[in-house]
Amino acid sequence: MTYPRIVIFNDTHGWHSEQLVSALAKLSIEALCVDLADCAIDLDQPSGLSIPGFEDQLPVAAIVRGIAPGSLEQITLRMDVLHTLTELNVPVFNPASAIEHTVDKARTSLRLHLAELSTPRTWACENKTKATKIVKQQLSLGRTLVIKPLFGCQGKGIEKISSLADFKAIDAVGDAFYLQHYIEPFKQGEWQDWRILVIDGQVCAAMSRQSQHWITNFAQGGSCLPTTVTPEMEQLAIDATQAVQADYAGVDLIRTCDGSYTVLEVNSVPAWKGLYQATNIDVAGHLAQALASRINTVSTNQSKSDHAV
Ligand SMILES: Nc1ncnc2c1ncn2[C@@H]1O[C@H](COP(=O)(O)OP(=O)(O)OP(=O)(O)O)[C@@H](O)[C@H]1O
Ligand SMILES: [Mg+2]
Repeated sequence: MTYPRIVIFNDTHGWHSEQLVSALAKLSIEALCVDLADCAIDLDQPSGLSIPGFEDQLPVAAIVRGIAPGSLEQITLRMDVLHTLTELNVPVFNPASAIEHTVDKARTSLRLHLAELSTPRTWACENKTKATKIVKQQLSLGRTLVIKPLFGCQGKGIEKISSLADFKAIDAVGDAFYLQHYIEPFKQGEWQDWRILVIDGQVCAAMSRQSQHWITNFAQGGSCLPTTVTPEMEQLAIDATQAVQADYAGVDLIRTCDGSYTVLEVNSVPAWKGLYQATNIDVAGHLAQALASRINTVSTNQSKSDHAV
């Protein structure tokens, strides 16, 4: 008896991969852990791809848990592999397109804006004179701004701009200025945001991150707590996931002074250890189920088209 085999992509496989391997095993699906950097494009293969461990047959699905930093050329090759798997009808969680929509904060902001979803007012540019003009204008309107590295990293490198002097003291990462309205906390002095994990259009788990500091990331000392979510929060998280065309995503919401919620970011390769610890929800099990149903849909469609031939 041979089991369907899927691939889990990451450069270092740890707790998350182990969780997925055992959740998939319960569904009689074998999972192999591979580094995307070890894959190759090989036109001698019918698929054009060489994936370690899948010499005889392509995986029936793929899940991307991480892509190591690399040169533009290396990242391009890795994305070529993911794009091609999708083109070969292999379900990829999340597909390269969704990863591209969320890998930099400006692209995510644009997708949310074009989908008419609530997200803080944001500007991104390369030109320092232009950035200075935006900062001056917003400060004169009494707004505080935040500047963030385009590629987020657990709350690192994010600064608040309350004066022109604050802005002048900042060295923008990669000379890219991603500027955003600072959202004052709903309750003064109590900073909180919410991480909502959406899988296949449904909320799977949610937690709130609370802190004495305005940057609430766990890595910056924030606490992760179980929480309930309102229908408004659920809908916003589901819509944000759809806006970046992700099968599953970790959506961060923040509450504005008027009590409504707005989307801070969408992560298409979300970790779930914090969520699991806060809620005890078996996220890996839910992901495995979602993958399994995708595999079944593909094979049903495949056999229908085989019959049609
Ligand atoms: N516009 C904002 N207003 C108020 N607080 C903000 C704003 N942007 C970010 N924050 C705070 O900073 C934290 C980190 O911001 P963000 O999620 O954008 O970056 P990141 O966590 O470094 O990125 P990534 O999650 O991709 O690693 C948020 O969780 C929130 O607590
Ligand atoms: Mg974040």
